[in-house]
Parts: sequence; C-alpha cells; structure tokens
Amino acid sequence: MTPHRLPDSYFHAMYAADDPWGFSSRWYERRKYALTLAALSSPRYGSAFEPGCSIGVLSAELATRCDRLLCIDVSPRAVDLARRRLAAAPHAQVRSGDIVEDWPVGERFDLIVLSEVLYYLDADALDDLVGRLPGSLTPDGEVVAVHWRWPVADYPQTGDAVHEALRASSLAVLASYSDTDFRLDVLRRRPGRSVAQREGLVDA
Ligand SMILES: C[S@@+](CC[C@H](N)C(=O)[O-])C[C@H]1O[C@@H](n2cnc3c(N)ncnc32)[C@H](O)[C@@H]1O
Repeated sequence: MTPHRLPDSYFHAMYAADDPWGFSSRWYERRKYALTLAALSSPRYGSAFEPGCSIGVLSAELATRCDRLLCIDVSPRAVDLARRRLAAAPHAQVRSGDIVEDWPVGERFDLIVLSEVLYYLDADALDDLVGRLPGSLTPDGEVVAVHWRWPVADYPQTGDAVHEALRASSLAVLASYSDTDFRLDVLRRRPGRSVAQREGLVDA
C-alpha cells in the first residue's frame, strides 16, 4: 500500500463498473455538481485543476467555465473514460496521476476543484496537501471543495474532517453550504470583493 492513501487496487476494483458512483445518473450527483458550479464566484476562470476527476462528468461542466483544464486520476480506466468524455474540449487535458505524488508543483491555478477526493488521504498527507493549496493558486485564485458526510469505513478521513482541515488553513472561506449528505466550501487566498461588489451593485 502506498503510505499516504488507499491502495490503487481499491479504485481499480471500483472501475470494473464504468460509472461506479453513478455520477452520470444519480440526482445526488447532479444536484451536488449544480451547487458546486453555482458556488463559484466567477463565471469563467483561466486555468483550472481537478485532481480525482474520475470519468469526467464534473470535468465536462468545468470545461465550459475555463480556458484550460488539467484533470488527473489515479485510475487508468477513469482517465480513459474522462478523455473520451472530454474529446470535444481540446483545452482539457486528462492525465493519470496521484494527487500527492503528481501534484503540479510550480503551477498556479485560478481554480482548484477538490470534489470527493481528499478523504482518501491519511492525516499527514491531508495536512501536507492543504498546506500546498495557497502556493498553487493565483493571487485571486479559488478552491472549491465538496465531500460526502456519511461515514465510510474504508476511508481514512470523514468529509467533515477534510473541511475542518481546509478551514484551519490560511485560506479565507468565501462561501459554504452543507446538508445531511455533503459539505461544500469555496476558499481563497484573500477574501477579495464579493460578486455584488465586483459588479458594482454596491458602493463598498
Ligand atoms: C468519489 S470519486 C469523485 C470523482 C469526482 N471528483 C466527482 O466528484 O465526481 C473519487 C475519485 O478520486 C480518485 N482518486 C482517489 N484517490 C486518488 C489519488 N490519491 N490521486 C488521484 N485520484 C484519486 C478515484 O480514482 C476516483 O475516481
């Protein structure tokens, strides 16, 4: 087992089915994606990074909101399916990669999307990854994180623990949503101006 996370074999086994979590069929997923995309403070981003992209259902939506999208996933089968789904989006690149070992160090993104991926990390790897986020964002860059809240015996972290770690970081929380099923936070290096302020709806 790779020390920082669940073993690759766990995800390889999951992808014996092409859509193991029902990303393209479940209302839970469609609703979660809609809330995630609606929570973003900008209509469009320059560069975006989505580790743990799976079969690219959310990625395809993100691709309509950014000029460049980099997606990685540890499962080769998921990468293959995501590439097919994103074939009509040449500005989107999908690579095989591990969120820790293949984090694009030195690159800065306007948007980092962490959707149901951080609870696979052990506590040290989670802390390390959360610590990398500010340095991987452009000055006005944004992180959106969303995680399932129900306990899963196999996962090293709960969704709530992930979001508590994000909230304990140096990032500022811009927007939040939570319900019984999942938790969502949008974070930035600095709070910046609100959407209404940016659009001149208020004088402040
Ligand atoms: C529950 S799915 C979430 C997919 C997608 N982000 C979404 O919300 O629709 C988790 C995905 O993360 C991938 N994954 C798990 N651990 C990973 C790691 N250490 N590095 C990269 N991808 C990982 C899995 O292969 C799987 O495709």
